[in-house]
This record gives sequence, structure tokens and C-alpha cells, in this order.
Amino acid sequence: MAKLIAGVMTSHVPAIGAALDNGKSGEPYWQKVFSGYEESKNWLAEIKPDVVILVYNDHATAFSLEIIPTFALGCADEYIPADEGWGARPVPVVKGDPDLAGHIAQSVILDEFDLTIVNKMEVDHGLTVPLSLMCGQPKEWPFKVIPLCVNVIQYPPPTGNRCYNLGKAIRKAVESYDKDLRVVIFGTGGMSHQLQGPRAGFINSEFDNRFLDKLSTDPVALTKIPHLEYIREAGSEGIEMVMWLIARGALDEDAKEIRRFYHVPASNTAVGHMILENAPY
Ligand code: DHB
Ligand code: FE
Repeated sequence: MAKLIAGVMTSHVPAIGAALDNGKSGEPYWQKVFSGYEESKNWLAEIKPDVVILVYNDHATAFSLEIIPTFALGCADEYIPADEGWGARPVPVVKGDPDLAGHIAQSVILDEFDLTIVNKMEVDHGLTVPLSLMCGQPKEWPFKVIPLCVNVIQYPPPTGNRCYNLGKAIRKAVESYDKDLRVVIFGTGGMSHQLQGPRAGFINSEFDNRFLDKLSTDPVALTKIPHLEYIREAGSEGIEMVMWLIARGALDEDAKEIRRFYHVPASNTAVGHMILENAPY
């Protein structure tokens, strides 16, 4: 049977992708960011997942205000990189796993989480920057990816509690799949940041570090944070952190924290990263 072995949480700052793509990752400003991921890259290369379920948000690349799915599950064979801002990143095409994705869709929808099924979709920095941080610059991504795109762009986003419970349903789906696959789930976005309005540039390290502590040891406490508290305490884009709760819900409540990194700033954003492993560790 498939096994969900670990969760990787990480920010998705687009400037990180641009730094890597333009050969600037060795510059002191960026070195501080990339150095936080060196051990994590080794860890991922060692545990060799077959599939990564990548929980992320789109930034008006694949979806616009015309269609706003709350949860969109990628069931395609492949996903072409595209982007706003700096444009499409020169990274490999992302290969999917339509068979496992279809199984997850069936299991989760029958468990009453009404996902949108997406058979064609471009993927932006929300998905490709986490891959770059964890895999570097390979010719091909070393595993298949099932994208799970979450609306955290346009009000109303899903609640943290809904996200956490969806994670539990995803775990159940994965572990009822009859192929021996090693599956890792990524929860991405965050940490505190605000890109517009009078508070543009807002970062709250105290909130972020409390969030990381609770994510590790008391995730249920985080499921009770209302949207207004995210926006007040972590900035308007801090709401992206509900996506980490999907990944956390797919892990054991007492999953083991094996890696943590926090750094301010990268572009306008606080960068946060954590790896949690399910038993047996
Ligand atoms: C920045 C961060 C984001 O998450 C994003 O989508 C765009 C820009 C930033 O820090 O500049
Ligand atoms: Fe973003």
C-alpha cells in the first residue's frame, strides 16, 4: 500500500526562484535563504519519494477571478510552468500521477470534501519555488507531483479547520491506494507577509515562531485561528499559512519535527520551513 511518510512546509517567495534562475543564489543575501535548505535537500534525496502531493496557491496564473475553486486537485499527466511577474521559470515540466490523483479525488469526494478536478493546468511559483528549494536545479524533477491548489487569493478562503480535516482525508486516501508508493506532502506559502496597502512589508516574527511551535506540537490549536487573526497578525498574504494545515492534517498528531528554519527577509516575506516525519521515524 502507499504510505504517507513525511511533510515539508516551506514559503514560496517568487524572488527565490528568480535568484536561482539568474545565478544569484551564491550572493550573501540569497545564500542565507538557500543555506537553510541544504540539509533538507539531502534528506529528501535520501528518502526518495515516488510522489509529492504539493499543496500550494496559484497567483492568477492558472485561475483568474472568472473561476475560483476553493480546492483544485491536479489529475493531469503533466503541468507546464507559467508565471506572473518574472514570467515562466526555466524549470522542468512537472510530471503528474493521474492514477493516484484520481484515487484521491474519489476517496476525498466520497468523504464529503468537494474538490474541483483539474485535468489541464499551468503551475506558477507557488508550486515551482518549493520544488526548487527542495530539489535544486535538476534536469527532471525526481518524483511525480500531484498539485492541490487552494484559494487563498480571493475572499473567502477555506478555514484552517477545514484544511486540517482535508489533510486527514488525503492521508486516508493515500493509505488506501494499493501501490507501494512513498508519498510526501508539501504545505507551502507563508509566512507572514503583506504585499499591498498601508501595511505593505508587514512581517511578524513572533506570530511566525509561535505558529511553527504549534505546528510541531499542537496543530489543533492552529485550526482555531480565524481569518481576521491571520490578516491582523501575519498580514494579508499570511493567510497562505492555512495551506500548511492541510499538510499537517495528513501527518500523525505526534509527527516528529526533524528540521526547522526561519529567516527574515526574502523579498517582502518571512521564510519559514519545517520537516515533520510520521512514525516509524
Ligand atoms: C512576494 C511574495 C509572494 O508570496 C508572492 O506571491 C509575490 C511576492 C514577495 O515577497 O515579494
Ligand atoms: Fe504568494
